[in-house]
Amino acid sequence: MGIEWRESLAIGVEAIDNQHKELLLRFDKLLNACQSGQGAEELKKLQIFLDEYVHTHFRDEEELQILHGYPDYEDHHAQHKYFIEQINKLEDETRQDGVSTHHVVETNNMLLKWLLNHISKVDKELGAFIKSAAH
Ligand SMILES: [Fe+2]
Repeated sequence: MGIEWRESLAIGVEAIDNQHKELLLRFDKLLNACQSGQGAEELKKLQIFLDEYVHTHFRDEEELQILHGYPDYEDHHAQHKYFIEQINKLEDETRQDGVSTHHVVETNNMLLKWLLNHISKVDKELGAFIKSAAH
């Protein structure tokens, strides 16, 4: 069981949608790796990827919000901050104890669920705001 991009996740800002697609692709890789018993190895790869990509992605989203004078910037920023904290926490744990199955499961459950929920609610609101501001 993998995770696939679907049109209902589009927020209508192409650059951001493409970044979301890339993020989901990486999580899909982890899900697939789990099925072939390569979860721990793939989690390390995902962590390295997320470290850089999430910062870039959130920064791009937030720059867009500032540019458009988005009223919910603070809340949105706080959500991004929370996600980064979770990634860092997981990374600290795996650095100390090594990667175990529960880290892989947590990443799939918690981070992926958060991401899908965030995209389909909070990011979509941003997309709608930008769209309405443009007309
Ligand atoms: Fe966001």
